[in-house]
Amino acid sequence: MKLLTTLFLAGGLMTASFAYAAPDADAAQALLKKSNCTKCHSVDKKKDGPAYKEVAKKYKGKADAEAKLLTHITTGPMIEIDGVKEEHSKVKSSDVAEQKNLVQWILSL
Ligand code: HEC
Repeated sequence: MKLLTTLFLAGGLMTASFAYAAPDADAAQALLKKSNCTKCHSVDKKKDGPAYKEVAKKYKGKADAEAKLLTHITTGPMIEIDGVKEEHSKVKSSDVAEQKNLVQWILSL
């Protein structure tokens, strides 16, 4: 409950003053683990999927970064791994504040 309250508050702060709210790294990483994202991604090494630092670099300075990544991790778009098409995993949380925290953490790397 405490975590959810924190996320809720953080979400509110981010809307009010984006620059001052740091994403909760522990919550973000816990959600990655829970959703098995770690199978294909790591923070700084390429696996089947790009390193999150590369993702952050790719989206740096882009205004629609957060929206794009939120869509990517919640709608299961088609991706290609070694020539095989498959649906990208969805994050195992329906809590938008939690999803946003994860995206903001990735973009902060
Ligand atoms: C089966 C392997 C696999 C799993 C599991 C996986 N991903 Fe990915 N992910 C990929 C691949 C491959 C790409 C590159 C897709 C592309 O660029 O078309 C990607 C791309 C991404 C991107 C960048 C999207 C962009 O627009 O550049 C993010 C962010 C991401 N994944 C997050 C996650 C999260 C969060 C999870 C867990 C819910 C996850 N991934 C689980 C393989 C995986």
